[in-house]
Amino acid sequence: MYVCSCFGVTEAQVRAHAEAGHCTPRQIASQSKAGTDCGNCVRSIQALLGRGACPRRELLESRAPEALEPEVADAASVASVEQAAA
Ligand code: FES
Repeated sequence: MYVCSCFGVTEAQVRAHAEAGHCTPRQIASQSKAGTDCGNCVRSIQALLGRGACPRRELLESRAPEALEPEVADAASVASVEQAAA
């Protein structure tokens, strides 16, 4: 099932990226562009990541907050949705 219709990204692809260690919506965006156009899919991606799609999530959450910052901040729509969710 598609999670991002703008870029044709599926739930399976998001899970695969998460399993490869890309465990935030920004990291998913840097890998697949999902969430970088209309941004309607960002909450769905957040939900997927929060439902065990990311095996490293507990490890990441146990680290200092600065360790959770994305390596690439290229998605303004992802940032705005994340700020709204905070
Ligand atoms: S549905 Fe994902 S960016 Fe539009």
